[in-house]
Amino acid sequence: MALQLSRFLIFFLYILAHIARSPATSPNSTFLFNSFRQSDLNLSGSATVTRTRALQMTNGQHSMEPGIKGNAFFTASLQFKKPTASKRTKSFSTRFVFTIVSKAHQSGGHGFAFIVAPSPNFSNAMGGRFFGLFSIRNNGNTRNQIFVVEFDIVQQTNLHDIDESHVGVDINGVNPSASEPAAYYTGNRKKEQGVLDSQTPIQAWIEYDGPMKQLNVTIAPLSHQLKPNCTLISRSIDLSPVLLEHMYVGFSFGTQKLVSKCYILAWSFAMDGKVPELDLSHLPLYSSGLELYGATKGFKEELGEGGFGSVYKGVLSRSGIEVAVKRVSHGSKQGMREFVVEISSLGRMRHRIVVQLHGWCRRGDDLLLAYEFMPYGSIDNFLFDVKGRSLSWEQRFKILKGIASGLLYLHEEWEQVVAHRDVKASNVLLDGDLNGRLGDFGLSRLYEHGANPKTTQIVGSFGYMVPEFSRTWKSSTSANVYSYGALLLEVAYGRRPIEPERHCEEMVLVELVHSLWKDGRILDAMAKGLGIATWWRK
Ligand SMILES: *[C@@H]1O[C@H](CO)[C@@H](O)[C@H](O)[C@H]1NC(C)=O
Ligand SMILES: *[C@@H]1O[C@H](CO)[C@@H](O)[C@H](O)[C@H]1NC(C)=O
Ligand SMILES: *[C@@H]1O[C@H](CO)[C@@H](O)[C@H](O)[C@H]1NC(C)=O
Ligand SMILES: *[C@@H]1O[C@H](CO)[C@@H](O)[C@H](O)[C@H]1NC(C)=O
Ligand SMILES: *[C@@H]1O[C@H](CO)[C@@H](O)[C@H](O)[C@H]1NC(C)=O
Repeated sequence: MALQLSRFLIFFLYILAHIARSPATSPNSTFLFNSFRQSDLNLSGSATVTRTRALQMTNGQHSMEPGIKGNAFFTASLQFKKPTASKRTKSFSTRFVFTIVSKAHQSGGHGFAFIVAPSPNFSNAMGGRFFGLFSIRNNGNTRNQIFVVEFDIVQQTNLHDIDESHVGVDINGVNPSASEPAAYYTGNRKKEQGVLDSQTPIQAWIEYDGPMKQLNVTIAPLSHQLKPNCTLISRSIDLSPVLLEHMYVGFSFGTQKLVSKCYILAWSFAMDGKVPELDLSHLPLYSSGLELYGATKGFKEELGEGGFGSVYKGVLSRSGIEVAVKRVSHGSKQGMREFVVEISSLGRMRHRIVVQLHGWCRRGDDLLLAYEFMPYGSIDNFLFDVKGRSLSWEQRFKILKGIASGLLYLHEEWEQVVAHRDVKASNVLLDGDLNGRLGDFGLSRLYEHGANPKTTQIVGSFGYMVPEFSRTWKSSTSANVYSYGALLLEVAYGRRPIEPERHCEEMVLVELVHSLWKDGRILDAMAKGLGIATWWRK
């Protein structure tokens, strides 16, 4: 009798313990966050919500074993199995926007993961390659019951990682059962390789079809607002042994000795239904975390006035890289929208002709952009005899050819059409080898190849603007080619496109050269002492 009673008591306690542990399930399993509040999420480790309401997974710190880790979960658990006797696994889909900011590509770690897990408590997990989810002791254990999609920026060959920027699907551990180098498909199904730590927002879709047991993962840069038609990963995979009835969904991050910042800017999720649309036009601001104010020693060394603000010289403290920091006041003409265009377009472009953007941050009302430092400044320093500098014809020709190839890339070869809209001498910068590089994308517009850009305002600089622009709304790329033509004449002639102090018919360079050409005197349109004539007659 006593034995039976104690058995009953043990059974009773067991039931009680289970009831007490059964998690609070969300009444509806669809949610949408276009920005985050602290109370929306269950945060632990290095994960925080910033003042701009982005979910920041890292604190920018690094540490050796067990490393830095951070987790962020939707506060309620969700029901992943049908409540019927069949307990069939449901379908689910999620969509989010993320940004990974490293000092330079391949210098950061380790990335983040989207996870579905039985509990939000990962106090025993390790950072680094374990993503704050597993440890040496439990990695790969089938009792983990954890489904992971990793966005990994470090190649661990011992974990069979395929490269240093890949998306992988993991079950119960960090050895991917499927992975692909980061890439997306454009409208015409062309595959574009990308890097995950591009410092710019990337959208991701993860979709699981319960009855069909199929998983799809798709990514695309934010400039492609629609989901690409082709998936990055599409696999038959049965998640029913992995997913329990009640699971938590969220994100996890881990690093060790490599630093990078990793943000989730918006997130939506749906169980058995269509995932809510994200509002991509109002994403929270995030910071690249460079210490830019300190880097410029309090904005002491001014390099000049840029299109929309002053430019200062600085040095990034961690890497020692010299940068040009553009300080844009929030109150200036260049609104937040233009600013974001400049960062998201420039940050992703990697072409030798484009001045590389290293990062940006916000300080009070100022926005700070750190560009690759161009030691010789802009080409107009050389054209108009500032400090006795000059360029030979060969040097000028090389610069012009470079800029032409850069424009070709922007107009026809990049994933989208980039209309710079402010091609002029002061935006042509010279690197250490006197190569011409295109800078200041503050007025640029992006659009799809083949699309008809809607022009709403006339922009550009006097002397470089196509004259019929106001009448015909010429496409922005042809307007750029016109501006390039004006630049070409300016560089060959060595005078500014408009010189108001001159006589009326000599005021506008394009008109002057045109009339010289009509009179058969085109060789008069060359800079003094260049010897173009000899080159021309060869
Ligand atoms: C449930 O759905 C309603 C609207 O459909 C929404 O307002 C609410 O925030 C949702 N609750 C959760 C926990 O997502
Ligand atoms: C998390 O799990 C650990 C180990 O399993 C446990 O010691 C700790 O109390 C748990 N923390 C919370 C907040 O539940
Ligand atoms: C977050 O998770 C911890 C650990 O499981 C739990 O103790 C805590 O109550 C959770 N907080 C919220 C707000 O859900
Ligand atoms: C997907 O394909 C359809 C039809 O072929 C096309 O109209 C659409 O633009 C494509 N979507 C994307 C995002 O490429
Ligand atoms: C996954 O992608 C395939 C092929 O692109 C498509 O047929 C299928 O419907 C997709 N499944 C889900 C769950 O999105």
